[in-house]
Amino acid sequence: MPNSRIAGVGYYVPKNVFTNNDLLKYMDTSDEWIQERSGIKERRYADRLGETTTTMGVEAAKIAIERAGITPQDIDFIIFATLSPDYYFPGCGVLLQRAMKMKEIGALDIRNQCSGFVYALSIADQYIKSGMYKNILIVGSEKHSFGLDFSTRGRNIAVIFGDGAGAVVVQPTEKEGQGILSTHLHSDGESAEILAMYNPGTHANHWVQKPVADFDDAEMGNLFMSKDMVEKAQNFPNMDGPAVFKKAVIKFPEVVMEALEKNKLSTTDISLLIPHQANLRIAQFVQQQLKLSDEQVFNNIDKYGNTTAASIPIALAEAWEQGKVKEGDLVCLAAFGSGFTWGSALMRW
Ligand code: COA
Repeated sequence: MPNSRIAGVGYYVPKNVFTNNDLLKYMDTSDEWIQERSGIKERRYADRLGETTTTMGVEAAKIAIERAGITPQDIDFIIFATLSPDYYFPGCGVLLQRAMKMKEIGALDIRNQCSGFVYALSIADQYIKSGMYKNILIVGSEKHSFGLDFSTRGRNIAVIFGDGAGAVVVQPTEKEGQGILSTHLHSDGESAEILAMYNPGTHANHWVQKPVADFDDAEMGNLFMSKDMVEKAQNFPNMDGPAVFKKAVIKFPEVVMEALEKNKLSTTDISLLIPHQANLRIAQFVQQQLKLSDEQVFNNIDKYGNTTAASIPIALAEAWEQGKVKEGDLVCLAAFGSGFTWGSALMRW
């Protein structure tokens, strides 16, 4: 059974830079508050009309595919992770397949928010190991800027998120000891609503049209999104920041240790930990808990904010470009986010 390895990495971020001070035009906040709480200095926002989650994903994919030494026609499976798709349905996978003129291959869209990339990698790993596919493209891409509440009401969330895309190509490797050593996925839906966007969604008692003639009109709305939902900002993401922080700082170290223990390795063996870029303070806390040096942890949230499913592949591609990920290195990816879902992947580069 072959191992799977990441054979090419790429990322794309929009050219529009929004500094913390730029956000002052829309909301009551400050550069100091944002930097102190999150470590973020600036983020990128996609063009309002020209760029979508898919178009950014395509740009990242082009680079990853070229670096893997193949062409888009060689890709035999797509996994697209995002929480900000171009359409409610179909997913971005088929839009990318069309845009890149790929063959009639399978395209899987997954919705695991900040853990999306680690979940996608785990799926790709199994397909490669089983021999089913040879060149899997994983894309994590987000256009958060289209759906954030930029008023003061939404400031606790709006300041954190940014747009961008990252991609990798996963291939089999016969080289002894190389590739993905293990992946570990978890979830706990108990607190699903504390980091969520509720609407539009089927939980709400709203119908576009009366389904049956004798249904009580008083119980029914005729709107997809009611005035009440909009007034309560339920059409925007909702987050209990402190609760997310508390859970994240427990689960990140736990899932890193799970990966190390599974492979009989220790924290000193890690060449580079790439945590999902949720918040610099979370990453620093995790670093401290695991007693890792600055050289062992990669962060770039200061430039891009939290790009959810895109954050790990963007960071991985940037680290690789900077020569911080080399052949033989032990690389650990770890994610935590909405759901809650969390996971890790340990690989020998
Ligand atoms: N600018 C200025 N003030 C802000 C603000 C902003 N952008 N956002 C919130 N505040 C205010 C709040 O209104 C509150 O004011 P009050 O004390 O008068 O009520 C105060 O700052 C503290 O709010 P709180 O939410 O308790 O702040 P915090 O110290 O927990 O920091 C986060 C907020 C969001 C930065 C922090 O909780 C966090 O990073 N959590 C994890 C979030 C995360 O990683 N999410 C993604 C997971 S994948």
